[in-house]
Amino acid sequence: MVPTVEWKNGAVRLLDQSRLPDKVEFLDCRDYRTVARAIRELRVRGAPAIGVTAAMGVALGAQSLSVTTYEEFAQAVKDICQHLAETRPTAVNLFWALERMQRTLDELRALPISEIMRRLVEESQRILDEDVAMNKAMGRHGAALIHDGQTVLTHCNAGALATAGYGTALGVVRAAWEQGKKIRVLADETRPVLQGARLTAWELMQDGIPVTLITDNMAGALMRQGLIHLCLVGADRIAANGDVANKIGTYSVAVLAKAHGIPFYVAAPYSTIDLKTPSGNQIPIEQRNPQEVTSVLGGPSVAPSGVDVLNPAFDVTPAAYITAIITERGTFKPSELAERFRA
Ligand code: MRU
Repeated sequence: MVPTVEWKNGAVRLLDQSRLPDKVEFLDCRDYRTVARAIRELRVRGAPAIGVTAAMGVALGAQSLSVTTYEEFAQAVKDICQHLAETRPTAVNLFWALERMQRTLDELRALPISEIMRRLVEESQRILDEDVAMNKAMGRHGAALIHDGQTVLTHCNAGALATAGYGTALGVVRAAWEQGKKIRVLADETRPVLQGARLTAWELMQDGIPVTLITDNMAGALMRQGLIHLCLVGADRIAANGDVANKIGTYSVAVLAKAHGIPFYVAAPYSTIDLKTPSGNQIPIEQRNPQEVTSVLGGPSVAPSGVDVLNPAFDVTPAAYITAIITERGTFKPSELAERFRA
């Protein structure tokens, strides 16, 4: 897989996901404002990838500062973090990564500014490397849940593209495939931005993992016919009680899965677990531009001009609908998560 995000020649290089699957193009961000815009415009998306990109954005912004004292430097980095924090509200990985960069900055206060700049780049690279390692660990734990011959339904894109590499939900699929299991993925297209059609289908085809694309409203009928054995999705934020925010439409899949007695799994690293948020009711849900709904990917309008539109980008699946959550530390019931991840 081509890297989603990397530090390259003093810039943050992003695979421009808004161009996929037609074009594999890269965007070299040379300042933190361009990084923030890229996150807002979904050129890079997926909770872990957003976190890694924001961390690199902080390192990039810090490098461009010309200040003399630590206090001036720290204030300017705080402002950069604030700018990046305002891009997207739901994926907690963004805030987790920004806090980690701030913490690193605090710990390095005794060093010369030029050295702190260098160490911030290193820390962002560490966040990236850890993300890939956690995804592989999740794959090892989760692969046991997929049996030879099974079909997995997924929603949105929780793959290599949504992370620094390998993927969360698709990392589990990838691990099962690497173990030689003959499995198939059914990918919900994921209206309105079509991450399933554009990204999940593309990335699985790149790896030769069998994938079949369906529209979002086909899942129920296919479950009823016995064609789906399990559901596996990623997460943007998991609250302390195990409620999960993920791409809009995830909740519908979970309710359908329960109605048909099909297991519903979530795969996510600890950077997605937000123990400060008690339940899904407190998770902020991003509202996006109505044009994403009234047209398909910026094409001609498919709705009457001036129609009222709702466009929440995420929904919350209550813990009661989730069979288990796959993490880098193992697979847990949603109710066990807080205890397992409390520091
Ligand atoms: O709006 P997006 O494309 O950033 O939404 C992404 C998702 O909802 C993913 O399922 C989630 O971030 C998990 S990615 C490992």
